[in-house]
Amino acid sequence: MAIIPIVTYNDSVLRQDAKPVKENSEELQQLIDDMFETMYNSNGVGLAAPQIGKSIRLFVVDTDVMTEELEEEENVGPLVFINPEIVKTDGNEIKMEEGCLSIPDVRDDVNRPEMVEVSYLDRNFNKHLIRTEGWLSRVIQHEYDHLKGVLFLDHISAFRRRLHRSALRKIENGKLEISYPVVPKS
Ligand code: NI
Repeated sequence: MAIIPIVTYNDSVLRQDAKPVKENSEELQQLIDDMFETMYNSNGVGLAAPQIGKSIRLFVVDTDVMTEELEEEENVGPLVFINPEIVKTDGNEIKMEEGCLSIPDVRDDVNRPEMVEVSYLDRNFNKHLIRTEGWLSRVIQHEYDHLKGVLFLDHISAFRRRLHRSALRKIENGKLEISYPVVPKS
């Protein structure tokens, strides 16, 4: 397994529409293992393939660190989502603070629907349909956005975005000290 440097804000791969994964392969399984290692190394709860420079429809999630203190939510452990499709969202719009490994040091409140229903293939290419609320729903919706080239900053107001301008500029200029490996800015 290997830790892969994470692509940061303003890299064009974060703005692309990711391509479907065509087939299982040794490389894909290796990539999934590396994505988990990369995510845990940076204390993340989700990581999408575009964030390591691969524009394919794949993300990994592990929200157990967030849910283990909450008795009302089950720990579901590591999950792999290949070619996910959001079938439905429902419930009230809920405001929650989000961050992103590609946008270090920037956090803000984002409104999203409470419930999400998503179909996907697991790492063995078995098909699943999951319906979830709470943290897991939030993380899935955030990672799913990455596959469409959308960042959580796109969901906040222009006014709020302006408040983050200097932090974003630091990331763009490679001036921010980040505690995990990132792709150097050229
Ligand atoms: Ni993110």
